[in-house]
Amino acid sequence: MELKASKALQGTIDVAPDKSISHRAVMMGSIAKGTTEIDNFLMGEDCLSTIECFRKMGVPIEMRGSRVTVTGRGLRGLQEPRELLYTGNSGTTTRLLCGLLAPQNFTSVLDGDASIRKRPMNRVIHPLQEMGAKLSGRDGSFTPITITGTALKGIEYTLPVASAQLKSALILAGLYAEGDTVILEPKPSRNHTELMINGFGGAISTEINRITVKPAEELYGHKIVVPGDISSAAFFLVAGLIVPGSEIRIKNVGLNPTRTGILDVLKAMGASITIEENKHNIEPSGDLIVKHSVLRGTEIGGDLIPRLIDELPILAVAAAFAEGTTVIKDAEELKVKESNRIDAMEKELQKAGVDVAATEDGMIVRGGRPVHGAIFESYHDHRIAMSMAVLALAAEGDSQIRNHQCISISYPGFFDTISSLQNR
Ligand code: S3P
Repeated sequence: MELKASKALQGTIDVAPDKSISHRAVMMGSIAKGTTEIDNFLMGEDCLSTIECFRKMGVPIEMRGSRVTVTGRGLRGLQEPRELLYTGNSGTTTRLLCGLLAPQNFTSVLDGDASIRKRPMNRVIHPLQEMGAKLSGRDGSFTPITITGTALKGIEYTLPVASAQLKSALILAGLYAEGDTVILEPKPSRNHTELMINGFGGAISTEINRITVKPAEELYGHKIVVPGDISSAAFFLVAGLIVPGSEIRIKNVGLNPTRTGILDVLKAMGASITIEENKHNIEPSGDLIVKHSVLRGTEIGGDLIPRLIDELPILAVAAAFAEGTTVIKDAEELKVKESNRIDAMEKELQKAGVDVAATEDGMIVRGGRPVHGAIFESYHDHRIAMSMAVLALAAEGDSQIRNHQCISISYPGFFDTISSLQNR
C-alpha cells in the first residue's frame, strides 16, 4: 500500500464497530435463551472467527449486511464441536473461549494462527485449573489447548495482570461454577463482559476493583447496537490532530470510561477534541470532533494503561509530532500483543526519523523532529499497520506499508475512510 503526505482531512465519518463488544455479543447471544439481534456488528476477521467457533458448537448465526442474528442455545445448550475451534488471530476469542468451554460437558480443542500460538495462555489456564478445569496447552501455556469440560467451583483470584480477556474468561467460567467467583483487578480494565451479562439477566457486581460473579441459571437474549470502536477512532483522532488544516467528526463512538484513556491523554497533549454524548444505552457513546492541534509531550502510565492499551502505538505516532518528550511506562503487556508492539514501534518510528527509544515497559519519544516517509513493516499486526499509515499522512515524502492486509482483522474499510476524508 502506497501512501503520500495528505492534504487536510475533512468530513464526517463512521469508524469500524467495536471489536470487543462484537465478540461478546456473539458469545453471550450463543449461551442465552432466545434471539440476540446485533446491529452494526464488526465484520472484521477476528469477530468472524468467533462466529465460526460458535457455529461449530451448533449455534445458528445469520448475517445480513452488518446485522447478525444469533439463535441462542441456552446456558447448557452448546454442542460438542466435531472439529478444532480455529480462533485465527484473535486473543479475545481464544482466551474467553477457554473460560466458556471449561465448564461444558464436552471436549474441545482451540488453536489459532502463528501469532496466537506465541501468545501466553497460562494466564487463563492456571486460574481455570484452580477452579477445577481440565485444560492442557502445548508446552503448558500455548495453543493448541485441549479442554475437557468438567464441573467448576468458584474461587477468589487476584489477577496478576490487568487484562480484560483474562477477567472475562474467569467471569464466563464463573457463570457455571458452584458458588461465587470473586476477581480482584490490579487496575480497572474494560468491563463490556460485566455490562453485557447483566443486560442479559446475569448477576455480576463490581465494587471498585472487586468483581463478584454469581452462578447463572439462564441468560436471555437481547438486542444490541454496537457503537463505533474508540480503538479504531483513535487512528482518525490522531490523523486529524497531525495533518494540518484537518477537522473530522467521528460519529457514534463507544465512550465506556474503561476505554477513554486516549481522550484524556490527547487532551493533556493539547488536542482540540469535543465530545457530544448520545443517549446512554448499555454502553455510553457519542460523536467526537477533532481539529488539527499543536501537541506537547506527556507521560502515560499507571491506571491509564489498561484504558488505552490498544492505542499506545498510535499515541507513539502522536508523540512523534508533539513538541517535547513523551514517556510511555507500565506497559510491558505491549510485548505480548499481536506483535511485540514496543519493538515494532521503535523500529518503524526510527525509519521515519523519529527519536524513540524502547524501554523495559514502554518507550520514550522525543518529538518535534522532521518525520519522513519510508517503507514500513506491519509485523502482520493490524494496529501497527494503521499507526504507520496515519504517520505517513503527515510525513514528508512517500511511504509504503508492507503486509497491510492484516488491517482487516479490526478495520476492513480503513483506507476507504481515509479517502473519504481526502476527497472533499
Ligand atoms: C480485549 C482486551 C485487551 C485488548 C484486546 C481486546 C478484550 O487485551 O488489548 O485488544 O476484548 O477483552 P488484554 O486482556 O490482553 O489486555
